[in-house]
Amino acid sequence: MDHLWVKTLHILFVIAWMAAVFYLPRILVNIAEAGHEPAVRERLLLMARRLYGFGHIMFGAMLLFGATLWLHYKIGGPWMHVKLSLVALILFFYIACGKMMKKAAAGGTLPSGKALRWFNEIPLLLAIPAIYLAVAKTLG
Ligand code: HEM
Repeated sequence: MDHLWVKTLHILFVIAWMAAVFYLPRILVNIAEAGHEPAVRERLLLMARRLYGFGHIMFGAMLLFGATLWLHYKIGGPWMHVKLSLVALILFFYIACGKMMKKAAAGGTLPSGKALRWFNEIPLLLAIPAIYLAVAKTLG
């Protein structure tokens, strides 16, 4: 396959994974603010579980095409290691959201909606330099 098609698919799955990374904590905000409405809470938890699973599949596809670009087409450089470190941090964030979701499902309490809204900004701060590195292909 032409490397431009691999890159196209890589970016498609980056978009899909990042959608889950940005939206999962938004659902956690809603769960934290659902109060004592068990039906609402259950529906939100179902949405969160499905989104979390979807995100795992999108991450796997993104990794497959990204790793093909890097290891098979040999596109990369020192910037790639920094980008991968940022990707690892975004993945930690995503897993932390999954842990909070599981805690809420087990009846545990979540941080406040306000705290979760701030927490939600972390992947944005990590994605901006990751995208810049992929586009600029240099550490500057
Ligand atoms: C799973 C880990 C990842 C690997 C191994 C990986 C690897 C790569 C490689 C080798 C390229 C080709 C760069 C080029 O054509 O010069 C690329 C392109 C790109 N990646 Fe990733 N990537 C990963 C995750 C991500 C994430 C999480 C983002 C965004 C947050 C991202 C955003 C991009 C963008 C925007 C491009 C296109 C750059 C361009 O052509 O100008 N990647 N990636």
